[in-house]
Amino acid sequence: QGGDPFATHLLQWFDVSGRHDLPWQHPRTPYRVWLSEIMLQQTQVRVVVPYFERFVAALPDVGTLAAAPLDDVLALWSGLGYYARARNLHAAAQLCAQRHGGELPRDFDALLALPGIGRSTAGAILSQAWGERVPILDGNVKRVLCRMHGVEGWPGLPAIEKRLWAIAEAHVHGVPADRMADYTQAQMDFGATLCTRHDPACMLCALQHDCVALREGRVEELPTPKPG
Ligand code: ADE
Ligand code: SF4
Repeated sequence: QGGDPFATHLLQWFDVSGRHDLPWQHPRTPYRVWLSEIMLQQTQVRVVVPYFERFVAALPDVGTLAAAPLDDVLALWSGLGYYARARNLHAAAQLCAQRHGGELPRDFDALLALPGIGRSTAGAILSQAWGERVPILDGNVKRVLCRMHGVEGWPGLPAIEKRLWAIAEAHVHGVPADRMADYTQAQMDFGATLCTRHDPACMLCALQHDCVALREGRVEELPTPKPG
């Protein structure tokens, strides 16, 4: 491999400085990855960890989640907020029981059809649970790609988002076949701990030689804020 400095340098950074002890990484089953991604959509890792552990202890697989009363699911979610996530999770588990033999489907469109799963979450599940070569694009990844590639324009605009998806898609082709799960986690960790919104650690950054924003002195300006 080695064709894509972004993927190569990001994975090198991840091996040394990424998070390797998150509970959904051991074991990294589709159910556990899915649950973690839904919890992490609006909540930080350190808050999610104890909720995740309680939830999988009580409801260890898709089947037990589908069969559980909604009130039990909401009780396990209590304190995490954004309760639509818990309702969607429960409804999605029941759809998996009906449509997919009680398992999460290993298919992009089938995942996207489940409540609570958008394009980036489907990518996060496919790449982490099965090692599929599918990109993600959450808020952290948008920020990193805007800076790395010097992309101007608010990332919430459809045209900018489309461009960022194309960049994310191009990068996954440079990832070694057996490293897609790590690559996805690496991007989350990189955006959360190094290329942060305020005061990114550019002088320690494994991607500093690939970064357009750093080279052009535009780190402070990117990503472009929401207009108005
Ligand atoms: N946010 C969404 N998914 C995440 C993950 N797997 N690790 C850390 N933050 C995340
Ligand atoms: Fe982010 Fe700075 Fe690294 Fe560029 S050099 S990717 S802005 S941390």
